[in-house]
Amino acid sequence: MTFQEKLEKNIWGLLIMVAIVVSVGGIVEIVPLFYLDNVIEKLDKSEDSIRPYTALELEGRDVYIREGCYLCHSQMIRPFRDEKERYGHYSLAAESKYDHPFQWGSKRTGPDLARVGGKYSDEWHIQHLKAPRSLVPESVMPNYPFLAEHKIDASLTEKKMRALAMVGVPYTDKDFAGAADAVRGKTEMDALVAYLQVLGTMVKFQPGKDYRE
Ligand code: HEC
Repeated sequence: MTFQEKLEKNIWGLLIMVAIVVSVGGIVEIVPLFYLDNVIEKLDKSEDSIRPYTALELEGRDVYIREGCYLCHSQMIRPFRDEKERYGHYSLAAESKYDHPFQWGSKRTGPDLARVGGKYSDEWHIQHLKAPRSLVPESVMPNYPFLAEHKIDASLTEKKMRALAMVGVPYTDKDFAGAADAVRGKTEMDALVAYLQVLGTMVKFQPGKDYRE
């Protein structure tokens, strides 16, 4: 009996070998990322306005996660020509450095949203979120009219920011102090639209520059 035949008849042996093979593959792919210094691109001062989300944008991001928008929308433009022509400049790692958890996603039932900020007006987004088919008749996106009726719970915003600060997001005491006031009375719709409108707008790209070098 060959080694292969023995392994195929021994479920635990097979599982252990599979685990070893998968770990080797994982280590080879993942470990270099911790040592390369160009994993997070360095941007010039003139290009870099990457900042943590404001209180309202952060609440919007939480609505985005809660509603599972990521199940249909990615936020990751790959460096291929068709993607760049459709969505804009490919995503940089630096752009999601304050995202915990990042929202890259992998499912595109709907379009990528990494650069949707500024593409439409706030009114368009509100109408589209309430009733997507009123604007895009063939859309399969669900209706989210209730977001406009639910108020944000302002008592939690500061805590959320403090939790993010613990994992390295540079929120300041001023941000904490102003958090509740910034979201009080706002609806989940306001927050989600604020979040959508900032996506992909924080880097001023210079035409022709290759940011991966
Ligand atoms: C069942 C899959 C699905 C879910 C869940 C979903 N969407 Fe969509 N979305 C789509 C599809 C399909 C389109 C393209 C048609 C359209 O514009 O309605 C789209 C389009 C969009 C667009 C317009 C993008 C563009 O560039 O034109 C935005 C913005 C958007 N969705 C936001 C959201 C948000 C925010 C959520 C969560 C509250 C969400 N979507 C949940 C499927 C989905």
